[in-house]
Amino acid sequence: MCGIVGYIGFRDAYPVVIKGLKRLEYRGYDSAGIALIDEHLKVFKKKGKVADLEESVNIKDVAGKIGIGHTRWATHGEPSDRNAHPHVSNNGKFAMIHNGIIENYVQIKNELQRKGYSFKSDTDTEVLLNFIEDIKLNNNCSLEEALRIALKRIVGAYCILLIDEQDPSTIIAARKGSPLVIGIGKGEHFLASDASPIIEYTKEVVYVNDYEIAIVKADELVLKNLGNEKQTPFITKLDMDLAEIEKGGYEHFMLKEIHEQPESIFDCLRGRLLPNEGKIVMNGVENNLDKLQNASRIIMVACGTSWHAGLVAEYVFEELCRIPVEVEYASEFRYRNPVINNGDVIIAISQSGETADTLVALEKAKEQGAFIFGVVNVVGSSIARISHAGAYTHSGHEIGVASTKAFTGQLAVLIMMALKIGYSKGTITEERYLQLMKDLESVPQKIKQILQNTDNIKAIANKYKDAHDFLYLGRGYNFPIALEGALKLKEISYIHAEGYPAAEMKHGPIALVDENLPVVFVATKDSYYEKIVSNVQEIKARKGKVIAVATEGDTIIPGMANDTLFVPDTDEIIAPLLSVIPLQLLSYHVGVMKGYDVDKPRNLAKSVTVE
Ligand code: M6R
Repeated sequence: MCGIVGYIGFRDAYPVVIKGLKRLEYRGYDSAGIALIDEHLKVFKKKGKVADLEESVNIKDVAGKIGIGHTRWATHGEPSDRNAHPHVSNNGKFAMIHNGIIENYVQIKNELQRKGYSFKSDTDTEVLLNFIEDIKLNNNCSLEEALRIALKRIVGAYCILLIDEQDPSTIIAARKGSPLVIGIGKGEHFLASDASPIIEYTKEVVYVNDYEIAIVKADELVLKNLGNEKQTPFITKLDMDLAEIEKGGYEHFMLKEIHEQPESIFDCLRGRLLPNEGKIVMNGVENNLDKLQNASRIIMVACGTSWHAGLVAEYVFEELCRIPVEVEYASEFRYRNPVINNGDVIIAISQSGETADTLVALEKAKEQGAFIFGVVNVVGSSIARISHAGAYTHSGHEIGVASTKAFTGQLAVLIMMALKIGYSKGTITEERYLQLMKDLESVPQKIKQILQNTDNIKAIANKYKDAHDFLYLGRGYNFPIALEGALKLKEISYIHAEGYPAAEMKHGPIALVDENLPVVFVATKDSYYEKIVSNVQEIKARKGKVIAVATEGDTIIPGMANDTLFVPDTDEIIAPLLSVIPLQLLSYHVGVMKGYDVDKPRNLAKSVTVE
């Protein structure tokens, strides 16, 4: 949450920072702001999106070769001009931006108020900044030293960039819990929450670690720990190009990312799934095969859509590997006192690799001796780094706040893992192993088929877009897809939607059913098919409107449903990878028809780095 950009070098900082903020806007869009130093420190900030900030700025006022910018997802204080970052310290000399939460800010604010400090905003950030100023003035020390002292006192998470009007040749940065990447150019440096603002200038980056402070000048980068000891920056080459982070002719990133799925899944399977050789090559699994196949229990830890991927994986791992699986919301798991036994394996699932709840849950589990396997999209992210082993989903940069291609990438990785472990353990036959590999291999082609003609999905979206509530029902492997379909509709179109196991519906939710309630059944041909046919009848008998996701060639479900979205036939274990696609598109079209910004739905942010 919150996007951070900084620039220092020979270029004008303003265009670099503004462009970077637009790339990071998916991280929060409650307000945006920028601070530059030319002769003096200048701050421009505005409630709303980066475009609103841009409009309010007079281009003649924005000279300066050093700048920091912020796009905010509000935590402390409502979205407003005055709560927007950057904040300026009481003496008017220092400006700071921050992503994270300072938990003990009230106590520090009280101390500062007693000393005569005043505050223009309701934010924890302004408190931290003035705390740093106060330490600097009282101790007559450098800004870097004051920051170090302050960071030792505060509790919480942060990525901060700090500039000083009296030293226009330096940006000071620090991180704990919130990401920071530094791009290394020739005579210039770029700082950002992820690599997307940096990619067009340089491919050489340094991922700053927790508890590190970076002192960044145009031609020098010094990293230190909180003990003031120099650290060696580890330079990584970015494996990403500009086209990945642009819309490429699509109206929205979400639509582009839905349409990228044949390719992103192909990339995920490439070099790993080798059905002709009867092999699955995954080094993270191979190197830990003993631990994984002998696990007494697997605990999937994740949030949101990634949690739904964990639910699908629960069914798949239990079926193919005969290992008991639990799926945990990271936010609940971290605050319980979970029982972690020797032999338990934790599979952490995360697109961003930065979700605060998941990250802290893993830190706690690791402390208790658990083995952590990360299924992550963003290379080099915090969850990827904290894991003992892992497999990247290789889904490419996902910018739309609603997760689409990252979800199918997670499913593909988790299914490959279960196949490899199950086969090695002997809990599936060679025949089924080979068959499932072939079915998985054909997924990109089958998704292409679904995406070839989406007119029907658009027509259904138009028909039901004014409904106030939706119910999504599914059984077995498709139950988590019902949950995912409901989540997508909620977040993109702001329509209330509930996902339920289809059979559970008669224990309560059926009371909601009348002629105004659209009920989406995820009802592909699988071992639960007969049962779900009965559930459809139960809804029809109460005059509910049925929208079915059904298998091509099926006539029974489409015969009963008011509307049908077809997907190609496949094995039930692979089916979630296909049945989710029309549901992603349904919510996309409903959201667009209702006039909402589907890439940046209200109140949300792509990467939830606060708890
Ligand atoms: O980056 P992560 O996968 O850890 O994010 C988890 C959730 O915040 C995320 O899936 C969220 O639910 C999405 N907005 C769903 O589309």
